[in-house]
Amino acid sequence: MAFDLVFFGGTGDLVWRKLMPALFQAFRHGTLPEGGRIIGVGRDDLSDAQYRQSIQTKFEKVEGEKRPSSEEFARFADLLCYVRMDLSRPEDYAALQQRLAERQTDTVVMYLSTAPILFTTICEQLAAAGLNTPQTRIVLEKPLGHDLASNRAINAVVGKVFKEQQIFRIDHYLGKPSVQNLFALRFGNTLFEPLWRREHIANIQITMAEELGVEKRGGFYEGTGALRDMVQNHALQLLCAIAMEPPINAHADAIRDEKLKVLRALRRWTPETLSQHVIRGQYSAGSVEGQPVPGYLNEPGVSPTSSTETFVALRTEIANWRWAGVPFYIRTGKRMAAREAHIEVNFRPTPHQIFHTPLGQANKLVIHLQPKDGLELHLFATGQSKRGPGSTGQTLAPVHLDLDFDKRFGSERVGAYERLLLDVLDGRLNLFVRSDEQEEAWRWVEPILQHWTADPVGPRPYNAGTWGPSASSAMIARDGFCWGEEN
Ligand code: BG6
Repeated sequence: MAFDLVFFGGTGDLVWRKLMPALFQAFRHGTLPEGGRIIGVGRDDLSDAQYRQSIQTKFEKVEGEKRPSSEEFARFADLLCYVRMDLSRPEDYAALQQRLAERQTDTVVMYLSTAPILFTTICEQLAAAGLNTPQTRIVLEKPLGHDLASNRAINAVVGKVFKEQQIFRIDHYLGKPSVQNLFALRFGNTLFEPLWRREHIANIQITMAEELGVEKRGGFYEGTGALRDMVQNHALQLLCAIAMEPPINAHADAIRDEKLKVLRALRRWTPETLSQHVIRGQYSAGSVEGQPVPGYLNEPGVSPTSSTETFVALRTEIANWRWAGVPFYIRTGKRMAAREAHIEVNFRPTPHQIFHTPLGQANKLVIHLQPKDGLELHLFATGQSKRGPGSTGQTLAPVHLDLDFDKRFGSERVGAYERLLLDVLDGRLNLFVRSDEQEEAWRWVEPILQHWTADPVGPRPYNAGTWGPSASSAMIARDGFCWGEEN
C-alpha cells in the first residue's frame, strides 16, 4: 500500500520524541506498509537531506536497542522528505499539493502535530487546496480545544472538511498495550465479568503519576493544567475502558457507543461535590530520586503567581445499574513520588469472617500500565506457620498472582504510537476518539474549571517527589478507603 504521511509540526517535539521513533520501530518490525513516504512540514528552510540529517541527530541520542544502526537509519531515511510551509499561506499548500502529486498513493495521512490553534486554519486550507480527497485521513493530537465551546468549534470545522470516518483523534493511552489487555481481560475472558459490578466491587482507583515536572513545556502547561492535560482525555478514556458494557462487536462505533454511555452516566457536579470531591495541587520544590528539583512557580515559562494545577485527585460515580454507588477515584500529577500508572479494582471484603485477615484488606486486581505492564490479583492464603499460645483460628496473609506481560510476550511489543500510526494507515478507528465522546468529556470537566476560576484559594501545594497534597488522601479516607500502591 503506497502512502504519504504528512507531519504538520514536522520539526516539533512530538515528531522527534514519539512519532519518528514509533515509525522507525514499525519499519524495523516490517509492519510499516511498503511504498511509504514520510513528509515533514515545518517553517524552517530545510532540504530533504537536512531534514534527514536532523532526524538522524535526534536518533543518535536514543538509548539502547531502540537506536537504529547507521545502515538501518540509511534505509529508513529514504522514506523521509520535507516541505517548508507557512501554514497560513495558501500558496504553500499548493507546494504541498505538488509534492503529493509526484506519485500515486492509496492513502494520504495529514497528521496535525501543531499547536491546536492552527487546526482549523490547516483544515480550511487543505480543503481550499483540494487536499481533502476521499483517500485522505486526518490525525488530530490533543488537546482539542480548552473547553467545550472551543472543542466543538474545532470539531465543526474539521467535520465540514472531512467525514467522521476520516478523522483520527489520538489519545495515546488507548494505544498502550496494557489498555489493549484491559479490553482482552474484560471481553475475551468470562472470569471477571460476573464480578465486574457494584455487588462485588467496593471502589476503583485510576492513578497516573509522573516523576517529571513540566520540563520545557511550561508555556504550554500554563494554559492547560493537569485536568485538561490528563483527566479530560487519558483518565476518562481509562475509566470508560474499565466501566463500559461489553460492546456487541469489535467495530469502532460499537466500542465508542459504549464508552459514550459511560461518559453520559458520570455523576454531574454539584457545588458540594465540587468542593469536596475535587482536589487540585501544585508542586513546590522538593526532591526526586534524591536530586533537588524546583517548584512549579520557578519553572521556565511559568508565571510566579500561577494557579495552574499540576495535580488533580477526584471522586466520581457512574449513575447506571452496574455501577451505582461505587466510587471511582482518579489521581494524576507531575513531580510525584514515582512514575506509575495503574488501575486498582478493589473488591468488597468477605461478608463473614472465619479467618483472621489483615485489617481493612480485601481482594484486588491491579492493572499495571507503566512502567510495568501486567496484572496482579491479590488474594489471601495461609502458610504452615506456627501458632502462638492462646491464638485461635487461622491467620491469612496477602499473596498475589503476578502476570508480567513484558516477560510473557517479550519487550519487543508494539508501543502506543507505533500501534496507533499503523491503525491510521490501516484505517482502523477502534482506538481513536469520536467527537461526541470528546464533547461529553469536556461537558463533564467544564464545571470543575468554572469552579476553580471562581475559587480564590487556588491549588494546594505539595512537595515535589510526594504523592500530592494530603487533602487527596483525606478525600478518599472519608469513604473509608485509601490510595493503593504508594510504595
Ligand atoms: C501527554 C501529556 O498527553 O501525556 C503529558 O500532555 C504527559 O503532559 C504524557 O507527560 C504522559 O504520557 P505517558 O505515556 O508518558 O504516561
